[in-house]
Amino acid sequence: MVYIQRRERFSSAHQLFNPNWSIEKNDEVFGKCANKNFHGHNFNLIVTVKGSINPDTGFVMNLVDLKRLMKIYVTDKLDHRNLNTDVDFMIGKMASTEVLAVEIWKILEPKISEHHAFLHCVRLEETENNFVEYYGE
Ligand code: NI
Repeated sequence: MVYIQRRERFSSAHQLFNPNWSIEKNDEVFGKCANKNFHGHNFNLIVTVKGSINPDTGFVMNLVDLKRLMKIYVTDKLDHRNLNTDVDFMIGKMASTEVLAVEIWKILEPKISEHHAFLHCVRLEETENNFVEYYGE
């Protein structure tokens, strides 16, 4: 099994806010991220795909195809958008990096399978210091 990785970058705004809680409780739990006027992050999305090497190409999966899938189905929908209000697959969900990583997995996993490879990990870097990884379970 060989693992390949591709990084794409995007910038999005969000607010962490639970509508079932008071303003005070939201401020207490989410701090600056509860700001009602939103704030932004420059995200790194690193997708890891695993599979065996195709003897005809020498590739696990053509990285041009992986780049295209990540761009069309994920980053084009997220870049310069508001995760709380502009992104169809995030409507009604908490706009956390964890939730976003799981939703990205749900989108990419079937698309990558069509290329005879397997999605292994969705890694989202929200800041230089805060990362989330999701392995599908
Ligand atoms: Ni934030």
